[in-house]
Amino acid sequence: MVEFDTVYNRCNTNSSKWDSVKDTYGEDDLLPMWIADMDFKANLPVLDALKKTAEQGILGYSPAPDSLYEAIQSWQKRHHDYLISKEAILFNSGVVPSLSLAIQAYTEPGDAILIHDPVYPPFAKVVEQNNRKLVRSQLLIDHEHFVMDLEKMEKQIIAENVRLFILCNPHNPGGRVWTKSELEAFGKLCAKYDVLVISDEIHQDLIFAPHVFTTFTNVHPTFKEFSITLTAATKTFNLAGIKNSMIFIENPDLRKKFVAAQERNFQNEINVFGYVGTQAAYQHGDIWLEELLVYLKENIDTVSEFLKTELSEVKMMHPEGTYLIWLDFSAFNLTDAQLQKQLIHKGKVVLNPGISFGPKGTQHMRLNVACPKETLLEGLNRIKQSFK
Ligand SMILES: Cc1ncc(COP(=O)(O)O)c(C=O)c1O
Repeated sequence: MVEFDTVYNRCNTNSSKWDSVKDTYGEDDLLPMWIADMDFKANLPVLDALKKTAEQGILGYSPAPDSLYEAIQSWQKRHHDYLISKEAILFNSGVVPSLSLAIQAYTEPGDAILIHDPVYPPFAKVVEQNNRKLVRSQLLIDHEHFVMDLEKMEKQIIAENVRLFILCNPHNPGGRVWTKSELEAFGKLCAKYDVLVISDEIHQDLIFAPHVFTTFTNVHPTFKEFSITLTAATKTFNLAGIKNSMIFIENPDLRKKFVAAQERNFQNEINVFGYVGTQAAYQHGDIWLEELLVYLKENIDTVSEFLKTELSEVKMMHPEGTYLIWLDFSAFNLTDAQLQKQLIHKGKVVLNPGISFGPKGTQHMRLNVACPKETLLEGLNRIKQSFK
């Protein structure tokens, strides 16, 4: 059994999650429950593989080995029923850098790109920093879960002549695991108007039964013609610092354009530890992941129970996947700045402000529960304390 209960001191480890809170908020003793990495040690075989590579002592340039392709193909087949050919697999240092490359490869400055609201903040940044036009489609709430507003999206696609959609599948911050039929309806809409889909599937392995993840490209045989998939082992296995991700592109024309963008940006050589860690995670990670999901689900249930009994003003969106919980603080009727101030200065706890995910995120916060139970309970008590 993996020791997910062990509390490690991550302070002074050069961790973005732990060591940047003081600089960001100017306070000591803040408890970070924000940036999406986990406070758990990585799986031992992954750490051993990284050590073995370091022990070779010579760390020269290194291409992706066949064994890595095989590990990825096997993982995708076993876990996602997705048969992917070797030639369709490309690598990059991260999903976000790949979003930027995809925008450069498939659109022109000024083109309209559609994203959901709320959604992972770098989606908006990467569109704007590439001088494309950002269009947001607000998600609706149905039975306390986000759903897509396809009718409104269709109007926006026509009005703005949208060229590309960046999909978050599963959805961060709402934890929605889009169903096959939702993705099918969404994909048909995109196909109808020639909108290319970039599907960010970095959370694809963090799914709670009975929910089932579906690779967008796999929904219908025609979807691979107008979509590319971005994913990684780094989120699943808590390896964000090794910087490695994959791009699956089945359409040869789309692949050629992406590779050209990679070459223009000299983004076609990857950190050797990224390759090694990804391969070891996919080869040896099945049981670790199973145990992780049990632990994360318990943490989510703990949050639900705590809010019900101790802080019923705060409503949570029950995640179907991811280790992130979208919390609604609107009952307190505070501005976003006041809400943030209360959590930081009164509660001494750091969550991601909902407003950073888009206008629809106002009066919300995103909570990261990938931590030992002891840390989680401390965090929940601090949130409660913020409103005393
Ligand atoms: C939806 C989503 N995409 C991408 C990333 C980051 O990916 P990378 O570190 O590979 O750039 C995250 C990290 O939280 C994420 O939630």
